[in-house]
Amino acid sequence: MSFRELILARQSVRKYASTPVETEKINQCLEAARLAPSASNSQPWHFIVVNEEPLRTEVAKATFSDIQLINKFTIQAPVMVVIVIEKARLITRLAMQVKKKEWPLIDIGITAEHFCLRATELGLGTCMIGWFDEKKIQKLLNIPSGKSIGLVISLGYPEEGYKQRIKTRKAQDEIISWNGYGV
Ligand SMILES: Cc1cc2nc3c(=O)[nH]c(=O)nc-3n(C[C@H](O)[C@H](O)[C@H](O)COP(=O)(O)O)c2cc1C
Repeated sequence: MSFRELILARQSVRKYASTPVETEKINQCLEAARLAPSASNSQPWHFIVVNEEPLRTEVAKATFSDIQLINKFTIQAPVMVVIVIEKARLITRLAMQVKKKEWPLIDIGITAEHFCLRATELGLGTCMIGWFDEKKIQKLLNIPSGKSIGLVISLGYPEEGYKQRIKTRKAQDEIISWNGYGV
């Protein structure tokens, strides 16, 4: 797959086959995530792979509720990956204070995309999940209080016949200007 084909093929997968995901493939996704860039190379992340029952189901259940059902599909996903935000390096934290920026959130997004692109290349499906019950997952996975969860990723083989969708994106002229904002 060329890089262009890969970014077109990566999409949020919300229907999974029950086929388990090979540990070797999960490790390859984690390795791609590990190689992601981050501010001052802080690597402010920790990945928790959840693939054992009943824990996996409990983590999936923490991504939806009776009134918010959009993430109910996670029940089917054979693997859930929880990305914990770790403290950035001191130098990065000082720079963040000066510049009033939250770089670890950006870092988490980049590493998550590395993970998802590699998964796509391996024939797997993913969905990044930003809506979850943080307290519930912290408790389930013994995440120390004070540490925050950046993202959850569902992972598994897409259900048979799962189609590649056409990307719905803003047009280039809506989001790009050259040599000045809105020019
Ligand atoms: C930070 C972030 C949080 C997201 N949270 C959710 C979520 O809670 N549930 C969900 O179904 N999709 C979630 N998504 C997936 C987006 O809806 C999806 O990426 C977007 O609609 C574009 O579709 P595509 O991924 O198929 O290209 C999230 C994506 C990102 C980057």
